[in-house]
Amino acid sequence: MSLLALREVTRTVIPQDQPALTILSGVELTIEPGDHVSIVGRSGSGKSTLLNLLGLLDLPTSGEITFDDRPVKTLSSARRDRLRGAAIGFVFQQFNLLPGRTALENVTMPLLYATGRTFWRRKKIAAEMLELVGLGHRLNSMPDRLSGGEQQRVAIARSLVRGPRLILADEPTGALDLDTGQSVMELIDDVAARTGAAQVVITHDPMIARRARRHFRLDRGVLTPVDDPTLEPLTRRHRRETVPVAVADDDAPIDARADGHA
Ligand SMILES: Nc1ncnc2c1ncn2[C@@H]1O[C@H](COP(=O)(O)OP(=O)(O)O)[C@@H](O)[C@H]1O
Ligand SMILES: [Mg+2]
Repeated sequence: MSLLALREVTRTVIPQDQPALTILSGVELTIEPGDHVSIVGRSGSGKSTLLNLLGLLDLPTSGEITFDDRPVKTLSSARRDRLRGAAIGFVFQQFNLLPGRTALENVTMPLLYATGRTFWRRKKIAAEMLELVGLGHRLNSMPDRLSGGEQQRVAIARSLVRGPRLILADEPTGALDLDTGQSVMELIDDVAARTGAAQVVITHDPMIARRARRHFRLDRGVLTPVDDPTLEPLTRRHRRETVPVAVADDDAPIDARADGHA
């Protein structure tokens, strides 16, 4: 049984007064429970669009997405929202913490929608989560008094406090320096290992990607498995063959290094 599966997924948008734009095409991806997947792609390749599909925030234009082998499009949007809240934790480059609320209040927030015991114990659960990310001593700190790395830890505590089965990270280290980024990733790995959560990490940093067990590259909306995310990008010729339709607006020249290895 797979946790999340995308089959022949396409996502097309129609911007105002412009022709339709196919952002993703033919995406095949199956995430198993406890999986650890990385997706690397340059800016504009469709990473966030893909993440929004994986996170059940958007539906595909064509193709199918299943969660626990159930087609997502058969769920009402309210059920989709509940499923997302209970099963998926998002980590973004921007920490999106509420200013003027303490670390503890920020992490308690997702538990306000819980019921029963979890609701009544929410402060204790949030405090334990902050303890787990190494911020047990900063429960009452406001976000603006915390460093970038600490803020990302609070954000991670908040996204994991409901015990998601799938962690989706979009450039989680984008706003952090190298060392802080590595330790934040270790933290996510640690929590995922403890809870058995699957992880999908979307990044442009091959070293972050390398931490995953399975690797993919997203290139102009086409997702391809790769052995090693630190290897060279696809060549221009390969791109022409694998991308039959004009995808996205990213017509930037491919860097010389890639062509050199054609
Ligand atoms: N709703 C939209 N309307 C028009 N263009 C979009 C929309 N969403 C994304 N795009 C375009 O699709 C491409 C991929 O976007 P995105 O998924 O955000 O890429 P990435 O996260 O890899 O930078 C970009 O060229 C972006 O401008
Ligand atoms: Mg993006």
